[in-house]
Amino acid sequence: MSDQTIQEATEAELNAPHPTDEAGINAAVQAALAAIESAGDLTELKDARLAHSGEKSALSLANRQIGKLDKSEKAVAGKLVGGARGRVNKALAARTVVLEEAEAARILEEETVDVTAAPRRRRVGARHPLSVLQDRVSDIFVGMGWEIAEGPEVESEWFNFDALNFKPDHPAREMQDTFFIEPADAHLVLRTHTSPVQVRSMLQRETPVYVLCPGRTFRTDELDATHTPVFHQFEGLAVDKGLTMADLRGTLEHFARQMFGKDAQIRLRPAYFPFTEPSAELDIWHPGAKGGPRWIEWGGCGMINPNVLRAAGIDPEEYSGFAFGMGIERTLMFRNDVPDMHDMIEGDIRFSQHFGMEI
Ligand code: DAH
Repeated sequence: MSDQTIQEATEAELNAPHPTDEAGINAAVQAALAAIESAGDLTELKDARLAHSGEKSALSLANRQIGKLDKSEKAVAGKLVGGARGRVNKALAARTVVLEEAEAARILEEETVDVTAAPRRRRVGARHPLSVLQDRVSDIFVGMGWEIAEGPEVESEWFNFDALNFKPDHPAREMQDTFFIEPADAHLVLRTHTSPVQVRSMLQRETPVYVLCPGRTFRTDELDATHTPVFHQFEGLAVDKGLTMADLRGTLEHFARQMFGKDAQIRLRPAYFPFTEPSAELDIWHPGAKGGPRWIEWGGCGMINPNVLRAAGIDPEEYSGFAFGMGIERTLMFRNDVPDMHDMIEGDIRFSQHFGMEI
């Protein structure tokens, strides 16, 4: 016990009323009731309890003295002090109930959730509709057991042109289409299409090969409503024993229906590409086209030219294959009625929100 406690105890004892002192006992009761009533919370009430009914309270000290009294005084003192302590304890119990209820109400209020309040949302951003479309295309082919292949955007001229059977004087090599990378004798270009990934895939993989190659491509076009110098394509490539144009057609038809619904149809028109023979332009019958269903030019395709298979070290006598290539921007334009290419590349979030993205 510290000196201070001893001192307090002594002081309290000195101040305690005599157990037969009715006025003194009543004053102690009044002091207790006032303290109990003014306790604003359970902590304050605990202090009041200690001070007015604890071991060192005036009433407890008076009670302890009763034992030392004469027999005649004991009965009076017992009734007086007992009654006084009873009133204090009753007041304590009543105040406890009130304060406990107040405390419970306070906690309830504090923890209330306002279900009608506007939620605070963290802005996490969203994927661009072009990326979402690219994933959708990839998913469809992965669903058919194909693999995803990638190649570099800075590509050697050999992969971009020579291996794909472009003759040295082919117009696509001219400056107006291709970004050449200096120095010229490095023979590097920004790939003008995803077709070079065909050759890389054939060189890297064992036959049979079934790959989809999505990616960024570059041409020296001015940006306008239907052109952009940086755009995206996806390239499909299948190399196996005995593949025919019918396999190409069936694959593209399935793909078209996955993308445009079960009423979609495809049409192949004869065309020319150096890397396929025969070659075709692929049109799609788009049942949901704006302004009504119609045929829309979608991309190119064909049976892989034997020269390309040879460049990739595959014997065209043993294997055949088909390939196709489409633009992702173009697909998004007619699939989702985007009339102007600018909207796709300017990064205005309202464009993405229009696609249901939450940004
Ligand atoms: N690479 C061609 C282009 O960019 C598209 C293409 C046409 C890809 C025919 C192919 C294909 O795989 O067989 O215009």
